[in-house]
Amino acid sequence: MSILVTGANGQVGTALSAALRDRYGSDHVICSDIKPPTEVAGRFVMLDILNTQRIAEVLDDYQVTEIYHLAAILSAHGEWNPPKTWNVNLNGLLSILELAVERDIKKVFFPSTIAVFGNTTPRIDTPQAVPLLPETVYGMSKASGENWCHYYALKYNLDVRCLRYPGIIGPESLAGGGTTDYAVDIFHHALQHGHYTCFLSPDTRLPMMYMEDALRATIELMEAPSEQIQLRYGYNISGCSFSPEEIASEIGKHVPDFSIDYAPDFRQEIAASWTQSIDDSTARAHWGWTPAFDLPKMTEKMISELNNRYV
Ligand code: SER
Repeated sequence: MSILVTGANGQVGTALSAALRDRYGSDHVICSDIKPPTEVAGRFVMLDILNTQRIAEVLDDYQVTEIYHLAAILSAHGEWNPPKTWNVNLNGLLSILELAVERDIKKVFFPSTIAVFGNTTPRIDTPQAVPLLPETVYGMSKASGENWCHYYALKYNLDVRCLRYPGIIGPESLAGGGTTDYAVDIFHHALQHGHYTCFLSPDTRLPMMYMEDALRATIELMEAPSEQIQLRYGYNISGCSFSPEEIASEIGKHVPDFSIDYAPDFRQEIAASWTQSIDDSTARAHWGWTPAFDLPKMTEKMISELNNRYV
């Protein structure tokens, strides 16, 4: 087994690479990113996802058998340069899928997102199969990416597996470029400064998930027998849903002097186009998904993990 992780220095990439190293052994995990890592934790190669020839070389040099393709530009940063976001997110994926078929790669993981949803989607308990009309280029690229994954599974029998990640919150890494980033930043600000200014309004409820759940969902999906994976586009997965005022009040139980104020910016409009909660019954039925962390449990764990770091 030889696993290539693209976008390995990102928020999920950092934590997922460590989880994959723990599970399969350091020698079997090749991390890659367009930027060098701040800390070298395992095997690493520089890789620009737009350089298809270089991806091919890496796949051949390391005899890669599985790919976790995380490299992407997220929802907020994506709006700064839509053509570049489309190019990185969609053409990067197409290179991965095409090279995976050519090289008979065993499995590919593609993270999709709640950003595929839009105003055509029911906002509460969003069902698995709904019309998708995303309002960000990131959401558009991920919705198209889901279709391409479905197509490659159908036409080329590629074993590609996708999850629609909610906002992910973990102590391992900072979020960057997304709309759900506030839910990570708020913990760091609470513990360092006792105060946070939130870029979303107090009642903006979004689907979220603790990192440990997201990593377990990813690994469980990838390890499930292929016949259980009846959908090759993104599976809905749910962790917990909350608004900034709800998480602030939960943090206040651990950090008594914590205060929050609100200065919504352009990310408010992005968040408003997404849904509030997710129906993940299909993932539960097909491959046995169950989340473990609700808001109180996640808050407690985040605070104890970050306290260890800051104290
Ligand atoms: N966390 C992502 C973002 O906010 C959503 O997938 O862009």
